Parts: sequence; structure tokens; C-alpha cells
Amino acid sequence: MNGNAAGPSRRHVLMGFGAGAVGALAAGQAGAEAQPQVNDAPQGDAVSTAQRVEFHGRHQAGITTPRPASGILVAFDLAITSLAEFERMMKLLTERARFLTQGGAVPERDPKLPPADSGLLGPHVASDNQTITVSLGDGLFQRFDWLQAHKPRRLQPMVQFPNDALAADLCHGDMTIQFCANLQDTNIHALRDIMKNLSEFLVIRWMQAGDVPPVVPAADGSTPSARNFLGFRDGSANPDSNDAALMESIVWVGAGEGEPDWAEGGSYQVVRLIRNMVERWDRTPLQEQERDFGRRKMSGAPMDGGPGATERDVPDYARDPEGKHTHLQSHIRLANPRTPQTQKNLILRRAFNYSNGVMKNGQLDQGLLFICYQADLEAGFITVQNRLNGELMEEYFKPIGGGYFFTLPGVTGPEDYLASGLISAAKGLL
Ligand code: HEM
Repeated sequence: MNGNAAGPSRRHVLMGFGAGAVGALAAGQAGAEAQPQVNDAPQGDAVSTAQRVEFHGRHQAGITTPRPASGILVAFDLAITSLAEFERMMKLLTERARFLTQGGAVPERDPKLPPADSGLLGPHVASDNQTITVSLGDGLFQRFDWLQAHKPRRLQPMVQFPNDALAADLCHGDMTIQFCANLQDTNIHALRDIMKNLSEFLVIRWMQAGDVPPVVPAADGSTPSARNFLGFRDGSANPDSNDAALMESIVWVGAGEGEPDWAEGGSYQVVRLIRNMVERWDRTPLQEQERDFGRRKMSGAPMDGGPGATERDVPDYARDPEGKHTHLQSHIRLANPRTPQTQKNLILRRAFNYSNGVMKNGQLDQGLLFICYQADLEAGFITVQNRLNGELMEEYFKPIGGGYFFTLPGVTGPEDYLASGLISAAKGLL
């Protein structure tokens, strides 16, 4: 409600409302008392609010699912002491995730009790493309004898890479939950719901929210990739998440890969909080920016593309062995040299831009909430990051946090729950 019932404020007058306007307002109010005005909410979209991602399946949603505009990655430490408590927690988490992703009416309660829901989304929780993706960290497996023997084979603590400045309070954790939805409020609502309903088990260790700017589709219906906070298109050469066979080989842990049976259908999640030196970047010549990434800034086209090339064009490194077009130390060339040998190092990236205000030194605190998924942590992220050590972009990137986690296989139906396979294995039932 605004204060126009009380007449024009001194500020309005001082801000340059002419005497005529003031006089008209006063005349309008003389006859009838002015009605208080309801502040309209920004207009929502009923179609996107109703978008729903299936919760049940062989894999968890939120990995190959198209990335919506908002995400929050939360790392927790778990206050559990036994396998029975772990099981109770996972069942409760599954129940909440099932409701929050599918949406529904909030139950009414005796007003003498705290309400069942925070109320952030009103009496009906909209699905709004919500996904909730749960992963477990190395520390959790290490802490309990009953989990140790069942640890995914390649899960390990994230170590410091040469360009990192990792802050201990922004790293690792027993469990992550990746919340994604069209609106950030939907993610915040889900986080608050889970924190409240699982308060006896969960302690937040660190979290980072981020966004991806929605892009208007081109005339042919295709949508280009979104821009990151360095102004470049980010996602141009990501493997196609609609290609199920490709995802089987790049993203999902399969049988016969030396992993525990329960882990099949899961994936390794890597999170990196990467600060971008945006002030320095904005003072860097365009040709240097494009050389360092290895792509054209506006179109996203590779450097060896002719006029009219787009981000969908593929660079030909075999014809450019000395890096005359695409610098040998550029981001894309090191990340993916595109040789037959490096095909096994492909990863599925699912990043969000973040902006945390200002740092103590007066610089903007902005960067990339980098998240990627792969079937093999060592062949995937670790190899790619080792190749990127020393890249030209290091001057503008500063990784400050994150960790390695194992994303649990999906919940296959109403009777199943998150980590059911792991828990059966820990009970000696598998
Ligand atoms: C702030 C940090 C980062 C920024 C701003 C960034 C930005 C970009 C941009 C603009 C591209 C080109 C367009 C595209 O294909 O998406 C790209 C490609 C890529 N990035 Fe990054 N990136 C960052 C960190 C990383 C990290 C940490 C990794 C993995 C260790 C990585 C792996 C890749 C890969 C695999 C490609 C595709 C290369 C290709 O296949 O051509 N990026 N990145």
C-alpha cells in the first residue's frame, strides 16, 4: 500500500511535481477519500508456474533436465549418528522433495501451531519447474564404518588446483541439494521447507544462489545459449542432454565400471564457486577477451569461423596446429582439444551466474556457480581442470570453493526413496 491517501509528500513536491499537478491531486481528494492503492506484483506466467518435472525415474531430475532460470546449490553437514537415522532422514527428504517438485495444496493446521508451510508461494505450492537433486560427499562416507565400504570408487575430497584460493568454509560437505526452478522464490521456498522438516538432521555449511538470463528464441525457434557475467555465451559446446545414449556414456554411472551396484544410474557432481574479476575484464580489449576464451563474444562463434558463423559451428583444431586462430592456451581449446583420445573427458556443464554484492575491497563479488556432471570424476572434471591449469583466463578466474559429490540414482516410484540402494547395501541386503 502506498501513502497517497495522505496527499502529495514533501518529496514529491521537491522532486519537481509542478504546482498544477499538486493542485489537481488536492482537488481530486476533496470530494471522496482517495482509495489506498494495491501495489501490483510483477506479472507472473501461469504456463511456466505450472511446469512440472517428473520426480520418479531411473535418474534424479536436475541433471539432463533443461536448466531453468534459477538455481541454488546448498551444501549441508548431517547431524546423524546411525544408519537408522540416515534412513529416516532420506525417507523424509524424499517425501518433501516429491511434494515440492510436484506441487499441491498446503494443508491447513490449527492456528495455535506454526503453519505447515512458510507461505512464500501462497496456499498452493506451484511446481514451477522445480527439481531437487541430492548428492553425497566423500566426508560422509569416510565418517561412518557402515558407509565406508560402499563409497563410489572415484569419490574423493576436492583438492586445491594451482589457481585456487579455496576458503575452508566454502568447501566440501556431507550432502548437497541442487534446487532449480523458474523463479528463485520457488527454490527458497523448497529450501526453507526442507530445513524446517529436517531440522534435526541438517546444518547448512555453505550455499550459493545463481541465475541464468532467459533468452528470446530466434526466428527459426532455436534458442542460443545464455551469457555469463563475462558477456560470453556459455553452453555452446555442451554435450546434447537430449541424446540418451550420449548421456549414458558421459553422465550416468553404468554397470561394469567398477562402481558399487547401488551407484548405477547416479553421477559425479562437481561444484566450483569461481569468482570473476569483472572490473579487470571490462577493461580488457575485446580481441584479448576473445583470444582467451577462443570464441567470438557476441555470436559465440569459434575463432576460425567465417562471417555469419554461429556458436553451433565447430572449431577445426587439426587445421590450426599452431593456434593462429584459436590460441593453444585458450579456454575452449584446453577444456576440449577435440581429439579422439579426449572424447572420454567430456562433461555436462550446468552452471549459474552469481552476484553476491560487493566485497570488502569494494570490488563486485560476481562469478560462476560452476556445476558439472560426469560418469567418471577422474576422466571428467579432474582431467579437464588439470588441462586448464595455466590457461589465459586464469587472470580473471579465482575458484574459492566447492567440492566433489556423488549424485544418488533416481527414486523409481512411490515406494522407493533416495539412497535406498546404498542403505540396503549398508544393511548387507544387496
Ligand atoms: C568462471 C568460470 C568459467 C567460465 C566463465 C567459463 C566460460 C566458458 C565459455 C564462455 C565457454 C565457451 C562456450 C561453451 O562452449 O560453453 C566455455 C566452454 C567450456 N568450458 Fe568453461 N568456463 C568456466 C569454467 C570452466 C571450468 C572450471 C571447466 C572445467 C574444468 C570448464 C569447462 C568447459 C568446457 C568443457 C567447455 C567446452 C569446450 C568445447 O567443447 O569447446 N569451464 N566455458
